[in-house]
Amino acid sequence: MKILIIGRGGREHAIAWKAAQSPLNPEIFVAPGNEGMTLTSNVHRVPIDENNTCALLTFAQEQHIDLTIVGPEAALMNGIADEFHAAGLPIFAPTKAAAQIEGSKQFAKELMVKYHIPTARYRTFDNYDKAKAYLDKTGAPIVIKYDGLAAGKGVVVAMTSDEADVALKDMLLDNHFGQGKVVMEEYLQGPEFSLLTLVNGTQVVPLVIAQDHKRAYDGDEGPNTGGMGAYSPVPVISQDQIDWAVEHIMKPTAEAMVAEGCPFCGVLYGGLMLTKQGPKVIEFNARFGDPETEVVLPKLKSDFVQLVLDLLTHREVKPEFYDDAFLGVVLAAKGYPGKYEKGLSIGNLDAVKQTVFHMGTDRKEGQWVSNGGRVLFVVGRGRDLNEARTDAYEGVKTIYAPDLFHREDIGWQALTR
Ligand code: AMP
Ligand code: GLY
Repeated sequence: MKILIIGRGGREHAIAWKAAQSPLNPEIFVAPGNEGMTLTSNVHRVPIDENNTCALLTFAQEQHIDLTIVGPEAALMNGIADEFHAAGLPIFAPTKAAAQIEGSKQFAKELMVKYHIPTARYRTFDNYDKAKAYLDKTGAPIVIKYDGLAAGKGVVVAMTSDEADVALKDMLLDNHFGQGKVVMEEYLQGPEFSLLTLVNGTQVVPLVIAQDHKRAYDGDEGPNTGGMGAYSPVPVISQDQIDWAVEHIMKPTAEAMVAEGCPFCGVLYGGLMLTKQGPKVIEFNARFGDPETEVVLPKLKSDFVQLVLDLLTHREVKPEFYDDAFLGVVLAAKGYPGKYEKGLSIGNLDAVKQTVFHMGTDRKEGQWVSNGGRVLFVVGRGRDLNEARTDAYEGVKTIYAPDLFHREDIGWQALTR
């Protein structure tokens, strides 16, 4: 059997790595992938950009690909699933219409209100004066979100009205991210967690939850990033609370998408916050989380490929997970998420005993070098988070990479809470 994975980061490496362990013994293609992925056996790179839907489709047809799995949201927004469906090719990814649940904050918010899915109260504005008038009425703290894809940087949690005003000016007067709308949202408080579910129509299969670390530096300081580390399980969230979130958030959302005529297929990712009133939705994503996937898939005991094939044919799916804890640390280029250099040297990777997912690497004259902002993800495993943490940092220390940085406190809060 042949599998095509679309994307080039740590998330796609984790998917390829897990798929490669399948007893179905698949031949795996990654487009465009990264050099590190080819360290996993049966994985081959295909030099096609993830946004070149046409070329990806032609490749899948010529190679008779049995299953395509999509990582990045941009490919979803390009309508890759729609094109593959039209050609009769199996793909585990939402259509362009269904991917709106991530691509349009207004779509997601309207859906949640209509179907009584718990989330922060909100208003939408495309006019600065009206938004400012609303701000004057509500005051801070308040959350300002650009409505559209802003590479994870379109959210400002404003603790003062001045900060909120700067964000509104930025988004509505200066059109920092393009011409669009903003969603102004009630400020919620509580621990956050990511609940990834495998969805096909009304069938919703929850995976284990994970916690990621969005800020660049220790102590949750510095700018927001794509994620600097992750761990699973998340002890501060009980199984009852997870079950509640599945029943009252994820399943009703999947059902709502069907009712709205845009059934969801793929990974529906709930970015949730445990407030005093229970779990509420901060955001939905229409894809695997990165770096959550890099700890959730190692925790999965079952054959991932079989799970997806069963889900696509509406068979019963009951994933099993290891009891062990998994914790991963990102090594990023100095300067990330701002300006950073590529081609930074990485040494001693061969000596690392832990699982390493490549987020952005390349090989130059036989040497590993960086090829992106987030470069490597080192996964530790242990009987509990403490052991997993020790294991992960042992791996991090083994790597020689003077121009990369990492957070020292991944998972620390979970251990000290
Ligand atoms: P998002 O891109 O929507 O996930 O937002 C990025 C981060 O902003 C989240 O992980 C939260 O930490 C924070 N955030 C977003 N919305 C809210 C809210 N309504 N209340 C408090 N914090 C929020
Ligand atoms: N880790 C956050 C995300 O994938 O959006």
